[in-house]
Amino acid sequence: MRLIVTKDYAAMSDAAADYVADFIRTNPDASLTPATGSTPVGLYEELALRRQRGRLDASRLRIFQLDEYLGIAADDSRSLYGWLQRALLQPMGIPTDNVVSLPGNAPDPLAACHAYHAAVVAAGGLDLALLGLGPNGHLGYNDPPADANSTTRLLKLSESSLQGAANYFGGYDRVPRQALTMGMDLLLAARHKLLVVSGAHKREILRQALLGPVTPDVPASYLQQAANVTVIADEAAADPAVLAKFGSSL
Ligand code: PGA
Repeated sequence: MRLIVTKDYAAMSDAAADYVADFIRTNPDASLTPATGSTPVGLYEELALRRQRGRLDASRLRIFQLDEYLGIAADDSRSLYGWLQRALLQPMGIPTDNVVSLPGNAPDPLAACHAYHAAVVAAGGLDLALLGLGPNGHLGYNDPPADANSTTRLLKLSESSLQGAANYFGGYDRVPRQALTMGMDLLLAARHKLLVVSGAHKREILRQALLGPVTPDVPASYLQQAANVTVIADEAAADPAVLAKFGSSL
């Protein structure tokens, strides 16, 4: 595991954009799953800037949607699919045909999860999993408890995740109670993992994920046992003990 600690959120976004841009240049046909949430927004903006300057072509990437709310159709503006389109895919010029979605309104969500898993396997697995860290240690919507073998599935969202999505949906009561998520099995098998973390409110959970016991109660702790993990965190999120064990400062 490699940890890069940056001064602030803007520097974290910049460093992460450097990582992802280099990755895309080296692997223009890569299969990638991009994080949803507030943390990667600055990273996506940085990537779009690099594209505008003509320095990055992401049009050949294959994108696998990380998570979706149950009952929300892709063309609903509240869907994570729609969010991803606006935040990353359109600004990067990635065609819809290159995207494998997790359909929140599938008539048979379980079958949809199986088909999704099969599509990732058929693509040869993921080259890059770009991940945020939930306040409860989740990756994607793999809320605790979730072990390394958890598969792509429909699950009940934890209290922490419901609270976290309340603003996005305009109120806690409006948040769908269930979601589909790519499983830990596919995420951990990705050939490269990039975790972006920002803010003092993530400091304790990042410390637990990197230094605590490997446990289903902190799904991100399985990254300790995974290969090719890079963590880019800002100073506010990086406990001194974490920095001492893994880190280098930018
Ligand atoms: P955040 O969410 O980036 O909005 O903090 C991270 C996550 O829950 O994965």
